[in-house]
Amino acid sequence: MKAYLVLHGPNLNLLGVREPTVYGALSMEDINHRLRLLADELGVEVRFVQSNHEGALIDALHEARTWAAGVVFNPGGYTHTSVALRDAVAAIGIPVVEVHLSNVHARDEFRRHSLIAPVCRGTIAGFGWQSYALGLRALAGLDD
Ligand code: DQA
Repeated sequence: MKAYLVLHGPNLNLLGVREPTVYGALSMEDINHRLRLLADELGVEVRFVQSNHEGALIDALHEARTWAAGVVFNPGGYTHTSVALRDAVAAIGIPVVEVHLSNVHARDEFRRHSLIAPVCRGTIAGFGWQSYALGLRALAGLDD
């Protein structure tokens, strides 16, 4: 069975209480639960990691290289700042989909630029928790 990592970056542990008008009312655990149900439907395995620390996110990406067929990654605020995370995504050689709950292009100017997107297989933004679901579906549907 193919296995995928869902990787949540900084501040996403506070989903549900953090700016709910922007990020929605679901907690990270609620989202993970929905993704587990989707994974069952798709016949794949999902594992979840959240960290507020750049290095821990890099370690999780390196580790995923050894077991995962791909990564659904919400890099949070590091999207717009982290060369090190971009390098990690480029290094691991498995498909990574960058996802965002909010439509980052419709918000502050600084959120319009992603350092991570150019090394990802694709990007999905603006669909709330469904951005993750669409990312998982896209990865599970890849045939290369
Ligand atoms: C986010 C968008 C980022 O700009 C922000 O820093 C986040 C969440 C999203 O999912 O919409 O932490 O990645």
